[in-house]
Amino acid sequence: MTDPTDAVRNRVLSLPSGELPAYLYDLAALRAHAAAVRASLPERVELYYAAKANPEPEILAALSAYVDGYEVASGGELAHVAQAVPGRPLAFGGPGKTPAEIVAALELGVERFHVESEYELHMLAELARRVLPAGRVGVLPRFNLPVAAGSLAASSLAMGGRPSPFGLDPAQADTVMGLLTDDTYPQLELKGVHAHLASGLRAPEQFAVAESVVEWAVRLSERHGVRPAEVNVGGGMTVDYTAPDERFDWVAYGAGLARLLSRHPDLVVRVEPGRALTAYCGWYATEVLDVKPSHGEEFAVVRGGTHHLRTPATKGHDQPCTLLTVEDWPHPWVRPAARGELVTLTGQLCTPKDVLARNVPAAALRAGDRVAFGLAGAYAWNISHHDFLMHPRPGFHFIDAPGG
Ligand SMILES: Cc1ncc(COP(=O)(O)O)c(C=O)c1O
Repeated sequence: MTDPTDAVRNRVLSLPSGELPAYLYDLAALRAHAAAVRASLPERVELYYAAKANPEPEILAALSAYVDGYEVASGGELAHVAQAVPGRPLAFGGPGKTPAEIVAALELGVERFHVESEYELHMLAELARRVLPAGRVGVLPRFNLPVAAGSLAASSLAMGGRPSPFGLDPAQADTVMGLLTDDTYPQLELKGVHAHLASGLRAPEQFAVAESVVEWAVRLSERHGVRPAEVNVGGGMTVDYTAPDERFDWVAYGAGLARLLSRHPDLVVRVEPGRALTAYCGWYATEVLDVKPSHGEEFAVVRGGTHHLRTPATKGHDQPCTLLTVEDWPHPWVRPAARGELVTLTGQLCTPKDVLARNVPAAALRAGDRVAFGLAGAYAWNISHHDFLMHPRPGFHFIDAPGG
């Protein structure tokens, strides 16, 4: 469902129009969702949250009781997450880590490094030797491993199984595993293997990928005389913006992982979803400023736009939304209203790309009515180009009580 929860709806309708647009997050709904996800996963599956999806401190804190740790992918995320949820386990991934970022991670006591290249492995080893001469850091080389033809075809964002800058090429696997098992780098402790190959997969495809990753990692490790303690199969569980009522089938996915783990009794599998954890708890709410006809179609211009909610522009979908009627019209001038059935909702930017949702059934939509765009809790505000055109920033509301 993308309709706002009661708590969010009440808040959207009670805000003065000058306080719109606004992002509203229902933290109770987020906690309930995260608890259900956690309950669907078997015991030897660790759940990390990929902070890049939404790093708001309130979101990170609300998830804390349900996740085993957080995946961070930059020095900025590292410092931010370490401050927002102090003491929680962190895994540091992402391509192009700089020496300064790695030193900061070592000094902060990051538990796991997802190593993206041979170069990065050598750099990490030397920096670990300097920063933690008596310590050891956990390493999971990230591999862009081969997967069965077509198995990522349904993905909206594939990062692996094809040429990409992410992770190590499978041809480098034996060299890297050799360096991590022959005592070349005593500061580095091989924990297992990491692979995040694609985002936007449904449970059956996601499980098939997880199974190939685990079996590939086990075969690779056995060739080097070790058994992996952990395999991180990444995130990427789908959020379908065109079918917002369908959710990733965590129960089926968890059951698949339980079967997989029964074949590997000592293994811990880790997942690191972002979007599928937080997308559903956020709304971007605003008001209609103007309604007008153009060449046989109708447009409603809302306060704000894709500089706040870039998700529909980047992913090429119509953002699911709920229209909230407002009776009050405080102005002496005529209130514009839609005459037809379908209205395209656009923002205030001077570009035809500033479209939030096309052809929304919105008969009689008027200026002053409000719109709550759903599925706005992930890759929304934090991926948007806020400063373009210098409109004011939205408000932020973290609602933590039923009814608001
Ligand atoms: C390494 C890694 N892990 C996890 C994620 C989270 O993916 P999603 O938000 O699709 O679950 C990403 C997303 O880009 C990623 O690159």
